[in-house]
Amino acid sequence: MDIKRIFKNNESWVQKKLDLQPDYFSTMSQGQNPDILYIGCSDSRVSAEELMGVAPGEVFVHRNIANMVPNTDLSAMSVINYAVAHLKVKHIVVCGHYYCGGVQAAMKSGDLGILNPWLRNIRDVYRTHKDELNAIENEEERYKRLVELNVEEQCINVIKTAEVQKAQRERNITIHGWVFDIHSGKLIDLNIDFIKLLENIMEIYRLDDVKE
Ligand code: CO
Repeated sequence: MDIKRIFKNNESWVQKKLDLQPDYFSTMSQGQNPDILYIGCSDSRVSAEELMGVAPGEVFVHRNIANMVPNTDLSAMSVINYAVAHLKVKHIVVCGHYYCGGVQAAMKSGDLGILNPWLRNIRDVYRTHKDELNAIENEEERYKRLVELNVEEQCINVIKTAEVQKAQRERNITIHGWVFDIHSGKLIDLNIDFIKLLENIMEIYRLDDVKE
């Protein structure tokens, strides 16, 4: 790719926006008020805004390898905190995708150096759901199911944070688990039943305000 082309693209994009709406950038520069926090994979084929058909300013986006929400990851934790406590988003989406390289790597035993601790989080998802996954004979189907279960577990990780629990007590905030199917371009809502899923574990993860 010719990197100079990007600046030419940018120039024509600016012009196009201004032609449609002369105050586009001056309005945009006044601040953001997105309703959605989107946590997705860094995969170059899964471009958050484009696949959702949303405009700049509508979605707060966080992407990393395999759309993970590790509780010690300062970046993911800061994004959630800022989106929930300050931007007051109404929805948090974790969006995985079939044929995710990160998930695939976690299904193999290769030592990938610095990626090991990151992918270990996905191996832990596999361990948690080992019986279900090992019962799937077709390897591709097992891989796709791990992508879905990983989304589910990362949604649970979102709900484990104090900020999200506080928001759930004080206002409407909804968590969504989605998968993007790279083969068809379709976005699939996993329709995760969080009430059922969290029934037996919230006693462990509940975080209340501490009264002084
Ligand atoms: Co991926």
